[in-house]
Amino acid sequence: MQITHTPNVIGAHITDVDLARVTDAEFAGIESTFNERGVICIRQQNLSEQQLIAFARRFGSVAPHFLKHYTHPDHPEILYISNIQENGKDIGHSDAGSVWHTDMSYTDKPPRATLLYALEVPTENGKALGNTLFSCAAAAYDSLPDATKQRIANLRAIHQVAGRRAKTGTGQQDQALRREQPAVIHPVARTHPITRRKCLYVSKGECEGIEGMAQDEALALIDELADRTVEERFRYTHHWQPRDLLMWDNCTVQHLASFDYKWPQHRRLMHRVTVGGSATF
Ligand SMILES: [Fe+2]
Repeated sequence: MQITHTPNVIGAHITDVDLARVTDAEFAGIESTFNERGVICIRQQNLSEQQLIAFARRFGSVAPHFLKHYTHPDHPEILYISNIQENGKDIGHSDAGSVWHTDMSYTDKPPRATLLYALEVPTENGKALGNTLFSCAAAAYDSLPDATKQRIANLRAIHQVAGRRAKTGTGQQDQALRREQPAVIHPVARTHPITRRKCLYVSKGECEGIEGMAQDEALALIDELADRTVEERFRYTHHWQPRDLLMWDNCTVQHLASFDYKWPQHRRLMHRVTVGGSATF
């Protein structure tokens, strides 16, 4: 197994390993690289649905996704991320990630990790489309002036999936399910449960306010911290290849999808699995 760090503050590529039959020693190397680098890509995998879920389970619990209409019929732990339409209907979630965010921050125990396994990657003139951008929320926190670190030390933000992001238009079925998710509260500067690094944990899409702070002031602070989180210097851009298994840490990094591909000339299909996390502090 070969592990290569990217030149960026996050990201690593891992090759010469078969995740369907990973040894304990290989897994230990994968997990420590994941914790350290926030996002890792393991190339050229051939994983059945069961093998993908089994690999994810080595990191923690794996549960069915709440957007039930886009889950795999036999494996509800797998959410289809796709722009493909069949009989005029989307077969999967087609606009996941159109603003910078971290997955399911609107739950009280946000997932430790998200895995995306690429089955079909759109291309044009031999170039992959649909890059996924990542940014390091830990490096962004470290870069803050001490006065800002002190100001946000005990602040907690309100996260709501039917919040600001929802106004950017997803399907009606999504909206109905989203409204069932109550708002939750997380620290603005969250401590990573494993690495203990402090990470900025706010996003413009899902944070609606800060406990005990006037709305105008809260939204201005959220936007300022969210902009800091995604500055160019903290980023890694992933260029997809079919059979990539990409996984990211939902505390250390935030991510953004790019939508430079269009149905029906481009087809994109990925299997997504999330690994359960813990309460935030
Ligand atoms: Fe996401």
